[in-house]
Amino acid sequence: MTQDELKQAVAKAAADYVAANVPAGSIVGVGTGSTANCFIDELAKIKERIGATVASSEATKQRLEAHGIKVLDLNEVSSMPVYVDGADEITARLEMVKGGGGALTREKIVAAVADQFVCVCDASKLVDTLGKFPLPVEVIPMAREYVAREIVKLGGQPKLRTGFTTDNGNLILDVHGLRIGDPAGFEATLNGIVGVVTNGLFACRGADLLLLATPTGVKQITR
Ligand code: A5P
Repeated sequence: MTQDELKQAVAKAAADYVAANVPAGSIVGVGTGSTANCFIDELAKIKERIGATVASSEATKQRLEAHGIKVLDLNEVSSMPVYVDGADEITARLEMVKGGGGALTREKIVAAVADQFVCVCDASKLVDTLGKFPLPVEVIPMAREYVAREIVKLGGQPKLRTGFTTDNGNLILDVHGLRIGDPAGFEATLNGIVGVVTNGLFACRGADLLLLATPTGVKQITR
């Protein structure tokens, strides 16, 4: 199977999971990226069953609306049973690196409201140790150089993502050269640097369920 076929398989499994486990009329949180896009296309097939969605990026909002799926502002929503999103790396403990598409902050906010985080990945994303994929850090523009110097002190090699501005009007530093032994601790340390909006480690609040597409089928992995 190609990687695209694996993404489509896991997206269908996620839509089936939502249809089977989420009460009719519920709000569904929707992530960002190529796997999340496949999920949106599958969600369109069951759109009569869900109440509405909350989008984690402008790109996701546009794709949902193009399918005729209602998108709510998060501030209008007080509860959300499930959030479905991809990851750039994930461990068997369901800690993740996210933000390859630059939507990490809104993804983390929407995920925080959801009761359950369902991660959808193909098998290439499963790793023993996080950090090979450069870790995205969203920074306030005026703090860019200060934050970069602080990250160097922590052992990382930050590189500015050139020509990119987040949906929140900020910058992304992609941090190379990491082997992250304590994902929750490192997530908190990075978030403690003044000028950091948030970073792409999702470990303090990781996923609750991983749907992992393999050539032999979609596996369900829980913590
Ligand atoms: C977007 O900011 C990211 O967090 C994505 O969810 C993540 O990069 C996975 O994207 P793909 O499904 O495109 O690999």
